[in-house]
Order: sequence, then C-alpha cells, then structure tokens
Amino acid sequence: MRCPGLDSARLQYVPLSLAHLSQEYVDWLNNPDVNRFLETGGNYSIEMLRKFLEDVEKKNILFWAIHLKTNGLHIGNIKIDPINERHGTAEYGILMGRVSEWGKGYGKEASECVINYCFDILKLRKITLGVVLDNVAAVKLYKGIGFKVEGHYKKHGLYDGKYCDVLRMARFNPIFSYDDQ
Ligand SMILES: CC(C)(COP(=O)(O)OP(=O)(O)OC[C@H]1O[C@@H](n2cnc3c(N)ncnc32)[C@H](O)[C@@H]1OP(=O)(O)O)[C@@H](O)C(=O)NCCC(=O)NCCS
Repeated sequence: MRCPGLDSARLQYVPLSLAHLSQEYVDWLNNPDVNRFLETGGNYSIEMLRKFLEDVEKKNILFWAIHLKTNGLHIGNIKIDPINERHGTAEYGILMGRVSEWGKGYGKEASECVINYCFDILKLRKITLGVVLDNVAAVKLYKGIGFKVEGHYKKHGLYDGKYCDVLRMARFNPIFSYDDQ
C-alpha cells in the first residue's frame, strides 16, 4: 500500500526510506532506554540499518518517519503493518528514538494522526498492538488514546533481563459500533 505524507499540528510524517539512514538512528536502536521493551535488542550497525531501510522501501508498507515541523529533525517512526484487508485489522507500532523529545506529547500526537488516517481514510475496523506491561510510558500512551486490553499474557517474553507480562490491546473504529464494546 502506498504510504502517503501526513501532517499534524507539530509533526510531519514522511515514508521511511534510505534517506533516514544516519548514525543517530543507529544510536537510538542501541540505546537501552529505547530498546528495553523492543524485539530489536542492541548491536545495531549502520549496515544493518541500511538493509532494514532498503527492505522497508521495497515492501511498500505504511511506515512513516516522524519529523518536527520546526526544524525537520527526525525524532521517531510509526507504522501500521501488517494490514489484514479481509478482517479490516492492522497492527500499530511506534518508536520515538530521540529520548530528549520524550514526554512532550509527540507520541500521542503521532498516534492519533496515524490512527485517524487508518479509520477515516482507509476505513480499517480495528487497530491492534502488543506492549510489555512494564513499559509504563507506552501503556499510559495507549490507554490514553483509547486502546483497551484484550489479552494479558503472563511472563510471556524476556525483556530487560526478566520474563515480563505482555498485553494485547485494541481500538475499534467508531464508525463500526458493536454492542459489547
Ligand atoms: C512509549 C513512547 C512512544 C512514548 O512517547 P512520548 O512522545 O514520550 O509520549 P507522549 O509524550 O505523547 O506521552 C504519552 C503519555 O504517556 C505518558 N508518559 C510518557 N513518558 C512517560 C514515563 N516515562 N512515565 C510515565 N508516563 C509517561 C505521558 O504523560 C502521556 O500521558 P498523558 O497524555 O496522560 O499526559 C516512547 O517513550 C518510546 O518510543 N519508547 C521507546 C520505544 C517503545 O517502547 N515503544 C513502544 C513499544 S510497545
């Protein structure tokens, strides 16, 4: 699916591409504060990132780089992938790599913008995500924008040196109303 440019009050979203290859981006992925609850782990190199970005470009998926409007700085990424067209569902993920920009409401603004695009334009029915219960900021962000817990997997994955619980969460497009939601 073609990834369109998007825009919100303080942020711009452009398709993630090789143009985003940088040592700073590699450093995000190797920062334990950033990757603590991610699948990627550390030990990323510029060559690994180049390969990843080439793959993203080839796949033609909804994967955006998030830039500050004020100075163009690349501060994170957000994706909606995979999309299941038959079921009208899609998986959402966000990584705000620039720690100095955390806590300014950018994660929330970006999530709302991209999810609204999925609901209003793509007419997707349901957006899903997985999050480690100990990832306090992410759980707060998701609950704050209306995601509900649908599954709670006990001691499901190894993160930050210990087995952690993992939540599956979801948010429905309000144009589809279900009696039990
Ligand atoms: C989780 C993450 C996306 C949050 O991004 P952010 O830009 O800092 O989020 P926001 O500033 O929009 O904050 C969203 C909410 O989370 C809260 N929050 C942010 N950081 C927090 C923290 N360290 N502790 C507690 N709450 C926090 C904010 O107060 C806000 O809640 P509010 O709207 O009720 O005030 C970011 O920390 C990140 O990318 N972390 C590393 C990668 C990651 O874990 N991604 C998620 C994988 S599931």
